[in-house]
Amino acid sequence: MLTAEEQKEINEELAHYPNKQAVCIDAMLIVQRRRGWVSDEDIHDIAEFLGMSTADLDGVATFYNLIRRKPVGRHVALICDSVSCWIMGCERVRDQLCARLGTTLGGSTADGRFTLLPNVCLGACDHAPVMMIDGDLYTNLDERQIDPILDRYK
Ligand code: FES
Repeated sequence: MLTAEEQKEINEELAHYPNKQAVCIDAMLIVQRRRGWVSDEDIHDIAEFLGMSTADLDGVATFYNLIRRKPVGRHVALICDSVSCWIMGCERVRDQLCARLGTTLGGSTADGRFTLLPNVCLGACDHAPVMMIDGDLYTNLDERQIDPILDRYK
């Protein structure tokens, strides 16, 4: 069930859109920001709130890669694997992250601290390689920067 705060925040977004369906991505992001991910039950509740079918909303969630459909760690690291970052060595950054955290891309640490996810272009191609942790963008990365960056997230 959507909380009163979630409903209020979604209703505030509705003021900027022509109809309820148009706010569906924002509604899922609102729920995700509060819960970490969007469960099947959440999809049902959001769809009902917006007057959409669950199948239609699930289709949008599947298409939009920033909607997380599985539980994640306390912190989420998005590692860009698009062309500029790939050319500039994102694989070395990814490998260092995986080694340091003892997990794989797409996986989470055993203590629930981090989830590592691949991501398409984060919009900072001229500063590749790039990753984002909880909305913080890190650019021009190399392996030596990984440890001090990770230490900021407990
Ligand atoms: Fe990585 Fe654009 S290709 S930020």
